[in-house]
Amino acid sequence: MIVKINALDDNRRGITRINNKVCFVKGVQMGEIVEINIVEEHKNYDIAEVVEYKKTSKERITPKCPYYKECGGCDLGDMTYESSLKWKEENIKEKLARNHFTSFKYLGITASSPYYYRNKITLHSNKKELGFYKRESHELIKIDHCMLVDKRINKIIKTLKKTDDVMIRVSNISDDMLIGNEKKTIISSIGSKKYRISPKSFFQVNSEITKKLYDYIYEIVKEKKAQNVLDLYCGIGTIGIYINDLVNEVLGIELVKEASIDANYNKKRNQAENISFLCGDVSKYIKKLENKYDLMITDPPRSGMNKKVVKEIIRISPKTIIYVSCNKITLIRDLKRLEEYYHMDSIKLFDMFPNTSHVECVVLLSLKTSEK
Ligand SMILES: C[S@@+](CC[C@H](N)C(=O)[O-])C[C@H]1O[C@@H](n2cnc3c(N)ncnc32)[C@H](O)[C@@H]1O
Repeated sequence: MIVKINALDDNRRGITRINNKVCFVKGVQMGEIVEINIVEEHKNYDIAEVVEYKKTSKERITPKCPYYKECGGCDLGDMTYESSLKWKEENIKEKLARNHFTSFKYLGITASSPYYYRNKITLHSNKKELGFYKRESHELIKIDHCMLVDKRINKIIKTLKKTDDVMIRVSNISDDMLIGNEKKTIISSIGSKKYRISPKSFFQVNSEITKKLYDYIYEIVKEKKAQNVLDLYCGIGTIGIYINDLVNEVLGIELVKEASIDANYNKKRNQAENISFLCGDVSKYIKKLENKYDLMITDPPRSGMNKKVVKEIIRISPKTIIYVSCNKITLIRDLKRLEEYYHMDSIKLFDMFPNTSHVECVVLLSLKTSEK
């Protein structure tokens, strides 16, 4: 049957209706007319694949990556970069509107270099070859090059041992690399700050866009004249150290021990004397904190913040919250939990993950009542 695609879902699947039942169509773009074949039937929806494109979008391009058809990596690789940005913007605005967030400023999306931007890759092994998993499966596709990854990482993929999964991370100020769990660290920089990174520590994957993200946070902290700052889920201390010269004190909390050790090293290396770190679960430590903090930065993992953490944030009631998130679903869930006490002032997007359906969101929230 032939259908027109009038909407796209969060994973960029086309949405259409057949006999009043929702049908998700893979591999299509807005406005395209396609002949489809239903491949999965569920109670409330069906999933279809394209048999033939009858009318294609003018934004459609031939993906540059040879693995595009099988690999789940660059799932927006068949769109022009400009149209992928437009889709990310419309998708988040539409999700916010559906959740009744309407009185905020939308501050646009900051673009990145679309290819070769990742400073880190994780390759899987089937004991004989290294590669990525096929879209929606655990079947390995052998790869020796990825168009999203720093070219220096691509150069060494062919030389790696193929018997185990391996993570590779490269510095942005030297050719130093971390390969697997070797007992080594590398130094990277964001702006004028230098950060040590251990294999198990988190570091943002796109250094170019991270600088723009941190500069934006810096400007907010400056404008708010913040004094006592909480940096939840602080990793190796990156954001707190970036903004420390503006404020009286920063307290960072991070679960991973290696990351917390890096954070303390980074504090010394950047002479950030007014920062301290706690190593452990945010939900454990936040209960013990005084309510002296006037600004809070929170940058949780994809699962977002748990209910207990949100409850404690409301108790501490910082005047300003900067919520950094790479998962729009948990972000909106947490905004809903905060909404009685915090007004959503603005959202700005940063294209941390070009050619994929992910985007980094920065939401600025202000306390609704009581002068602090
Ligand atoms: C998205 S990263 C942000 C790191 C840092 N803000 C940055 O920009 O590099 C989230 C961090 O939260 C840490 N984390 C995850 N769960 C946690 C928890 N329950 N308590 C404290 N930290 C946690 C992870 O180890 C990771 O370093």
